[in-house]
Amino acid sequence: MAILITGGAGYIGSHTAIELLNNNREIIIVDNFSNSKKEVLEKIKQITNKNFKYYEIDYKDEDKLNKIFKENKIDAVMNFAGFKAVGESVQKPLEYYENNISGAITLLKVMKKHNVKKFIFSSSATVYGNPEKVPITEDSKTGGTTNPYGTTKLFIEQILKDLYKSDNSWDIAILRYFNPVGSHESGLIGEEPNGIPNNLMPYIVRVAKGQLKELSIFGNDYDTKDGTGVRDYIHVVDLARGHIKALEKLEKENQGLYIYNLGTGKGYSVLDMVKAFEKATGQKVQYKITERRAGDIAICYSDPTKAKQELNWTATKTLEDMCRDSWKYIQNSK
Ligand code: WQD
Repeated sequence: MAILITGGAGYIGSHTAIELLNNNREIIIVDNFSNSKKEVLEKIKQITNKNFKYYEIDYKDEDKLNKIFKENKIDAVMNFAGFKAVGESVQKPLEYYENNISGAITLLKVMKKHNVKKFIFSSSATVYGNPEKVPITEDSKTGGTTNPYGTTKLFIEQILKDLYKSDNSWDIAILRYFNPVGSHESGLIGEEPNGIPNNLMPYIVRVAKGQLKELSIFGNDYDTKDGTGVRDYIHVVDLARGHIKALEKLEKENQGLYIYNLGTGKGYSVLDMVKAFEKATGQKVQYKITERRAGDIAICYSDPTKAKQELNWTATKTLEDMCRDSWKYIQNSK
């Protein structure tokens, strides 16, 4: 029985595909390559020495999705497909609501039709908005999202809660990612944002490589230890492994709706990240302090206790691993 991975050629999806294959799972990847590269599929095969089916379709295409479910024995679905750039979402709200929310609804409708009820959703710590307190637990207040990207995640979580209320034979895990960074140790796959990166680590590595002049640190007047923003950075491989544990939980329980923070429980400032990167790689990162970025919050980091207790999962990779692996990937890519 196969695990269907939508957005499986993307950053988190591809790293999770590798972990599933390494765990001898059968996978099927669905991707339209609108925000990823087809050659990533070959890299997954090269890294795992395993083969798998893939379909180049848009997950919003109900007929094509139906055909895939007819042709294959699918046991569970992991939904990574979706646009994910915070800044872009402010400029293009309709595209974000259509792609992320209509896509998820189409996927769930087709799953229901084929009686496939195990669903793992790629959510985000952004659903907590500006947290009232840190560390953030799963029962912390959600809402107050400051951009359409985060709001799509919040809406899809609500859709899943209502779906489960209507039919509790569903078996759903909502995984709230904190800040995914890093790359597979091979350096063959990693984060490939289109254009100028929004996120911190992809920007840092391009400055270190000389592709970008200097890092703009968005404000050093926050109420944090050094004035710069604090986040919970988690290695993408730790994040991927959290999905394996969530799948095992769904297979054990066979019904329910479960919500987990996937973070390290540690907060690091922007300046911490710059210093950690320079130490881990020996590369200098030029930076300047600029104005705050609209919509940014001061501090966001997780309490990952629930995932530890219920999934037997904790992040194990260090900040040095995150920096070293990020640097290795950008050195390999053209
Ligand atoms: C981190 C820190 C910035 C860039 C968002 C989404 C989240 C997830 C990750 C998709 C902040 C500072 C950044 C730069 C900077 N998205 N920064 N200069 O905003 O915490 O989270 O991206 O998976 O859902 O909400 O991540 O990496 O953009 O910012 O100073 O050039 O780095 O101010 O303090 P963020 P980020």
